[in-house]
Amino acid sequence: MLTPIFDADLQPYNSFGFASRAARLLTLTQAEQLPALLADHDFRHGPRWILGEGSNVLLPPYLAGTVVLMSLKGIELLSEDDQQVKIRVAAGENWHEFVQYCLAQGWYGLENLSLIPGTVGAAPIQNIGAYGVEVGQWIETVEFIDLDNAQTHRLSAAACEFAYRDSVFKRQWRHRALITAVEFQLPKHPQPRYDYGDLKQVLQELGTITPQAVAQAVITVRQSKLPDPKQLGNAGSFFKNPLVDDATLQRLITAHPTLAHHGNKLAAGWLIDHAGLKGYRQGPVGVHEKQALVLVNYGGGSAADIMALAEHVQHTVATYYGVLLEREPDVMGNVV
Ligand code: FAD
Ligand code: EPU
Repeated sequence: MLTPIFDADLQPYNSFGFASRAARLLTLTQAEQLPALLADHDFRHGPRWILGEGSNVLLPPYLAGTVVLMSLKGIELLSEDDQQVKIRVAAGENWHEFVQYCLAQGWYGLENLSLIPGTVGAAPIQNIGAYGVEVGQWIETVEFIDLDNAQTHRLSAAACEFAYRDSVFKRQWRHRALITAVEFQLPKHPQPRYDYGDLKQVLQELGTITPQAVAQAVITVRQSKLPDPKQLGNAGSFFKNPLVDDATLQRLITAHPTLAHHGNKLAAGWLIDHAGLKGYRQGPVGVHEKQALVLVNYGGGSAADIMALAEHVQHTVATYYGVLLEREPDVMGNVV
């Protein structure tokens, strides 16, 4: 059974906390409901939207059409030897809980990605990354349904074309692929990665470096920097860190010797901060006062307010540095 909720409240399902309603909402909790979803007339023919935990989206006040909330659960051990495991994880599992589960089993690699909000199914879409690790390196296969013809596909990691905050799911498959499961291959021997600035410092204070210590350090650093969406609406980094060519990098370093960058990738937070916008407020929304890459909803703000603020930030950064900032969260429907 797949029973729609009409005129559904989406405020609890978006981390910005925008007031938003959907014409119809279907919640997928069991794989057995998939045939009913694919046969649903409005889902097949009307506008359709997929939501995980809504931690990387801008929702409009009203979303026409059908929203499917991905809540499929389950972790299955596919194979195991003394080196590694292969596991299949349903798309609606919570990402952080899954990372904690792996650590408890002695399956490693994902510890640097602790505390990233959202679902396992959304993780491959922008190839979530933090503290020197991107999820794509541990993914073997992404399983999804092509919503245009109900065909099931299994894409290898290579075919997903994972790159910084990018994959085929942000391009040709955007809003067309319903990801149902992700398969991971994880090592059983720890290979902690802690070369990322802040992390190294916190770990030195913790002593022995284990994957559990890395996870704890990542959690500590994240909690000290990023606002908790339960307290203050946000979607994490609002812009991607821009990649620039060598000539642009040299020009910027000469003009701004303290510029923060990792190779040719500039820290967008530094650019926004040093353009004087950290803590800037525009009505009910603003640039976070500790992390300038995070735009926040102080309460009562809308996606249109955030888009207007984002435009101001983009314009200011382009004027100061000649660099264009690209948005990270996905915009659904008509937000302006
Ligand atoms: P949603 O926001 O619900 O959806 C995002 C997009 O994916 C939408 O286009 C949606 O249609 C699509 N989608 C979701 N599920 C499916 C599915 N099963 N099939 C097909 N399409 C689907 N990201 C990072 O990479 N690194 C970070 O360090 C990080 N930190 C964050 C910190 C905070 C405080 C917040 C709020 C966000 C952060 N993010 C980070 C962004 C976010 O956590 C990730 O993008 C996450 O993967 C989104 O998961 P979700 O389930 O909430 O997706
Ligand atoms: N910085 C400033 N001022 C600020 C913010 C940052 O000067 O207001 C400087 C910092 O001092 C540092 C540099 O910018 O030198 C980078 O900052 P930070 O380490 O906090 O990382 P970030 O570039 O802001 C990226 C990801 C995060 C991820 C962290 C940790 C992107 C767009 N963002 O943030 O991902 O958690 O690194 O790896 O790549 C997300 O995608 O939503 C997200 C939170």
